[in-house]
Amino acid sequence: MRVGVGGAAACFLFTLSGWPPARAKYDSGTVETDEKWVFLTKFCFLATKGQINYHIRYPQEKYNVNLLFYHDEKSQWPSVYKNRSKDCWSKEAVAAIEKNQLFNLTQSFPLSGCQVMEENGINYTDCQRGLGFKSARERWWFLAVSNCMGGGIRLDYKITMTNGKTLWRRHFSANQIGIFEVNMLSIILFIILFGISIYFARK
Ligand SMILES: *[C@@H]1O[C@H](CO)[C@@H](O)[C@H](O)[C@H]1NC(C)=O
Ligand SMILES: *[C@@H]1O[C@H](CO)[C@@H](O)[C@H](O)[C@H]1NC(C)=O
Ligand SMILES: *[C@@H]1O[C@H](CO)[C@@H](O)[C@H](O)[C@H]1NC(C)=O
Repeated sequence: MRVGVGGAAACFLFTLSGWPPARAKYDSGTVETDEKWVFLTKFCFLATKGQINYHIRYPQEKYNVNLLFYHDEKSQWPSVYKNRSKDCWSKEAVAAIEKNQLFNLTQSFPLSGCQVMEENGINYTDCQRGLGFKSARERWWFLAVSNCMGGGIRLDYKITMTNGKTLWRRHFSANQIGIFEVNMLSIILFIILFGISIYFARK
């Protein structure tokens, strides 16, 4: 696996400009809000293959929820995050403008992998899907959920994000792989220098 310096730098730059590096590659939680649009999680994907698996479940009531994917280009995430001049609909439109970045979490939208399940007398929309990510460079992806119709968002989610298939690297964000390799290099350099200094100390 090649870790491009340019791509890693892009991930670092994003980190410096306000988003801390993603640590947890497994994210789960409950959203319970009156907001119409909520940020869920983010991940830095390598230029090679990355994968997201999501499992999202919410009570099937009057409203439906959409899952939105944004990447780190200026016209995408930076244009919607904390942008007060964009309402929920225009934030959805930014994701929808590119192919396969807006998933209606309903049974009638086959791509999203949703089923209706009854449990304790309540019908839930239960969505599970794995998505492969491939792009020309390393980039951040940001996930949000929305319900622009109003009535709030209540859901449970489990999201796993991985880079490639090598076991010891699987759960690192691309930017952390960079850090890991820099650390290994400093340890090796340290051992070499330590060896040399012992050698001269004994002379
Ligand atoms: C915020 O949204 C407005 C309206 O869509 C847009 O003109 C502006 O460029 C956005 N701000 C940023 C920082 O992208
Ligand atoms: C999916 O959601 C968008 C935005 O809310 C909406 O415009 C569209 O009609 C929905 N599509 C389906 C198939 O439900
Ligand atoms: C759940 O959905 C099924 C099939 O759509 C329906 O027959 C049933 O009445 C629903 N149950 C509740 C509690 O809404």
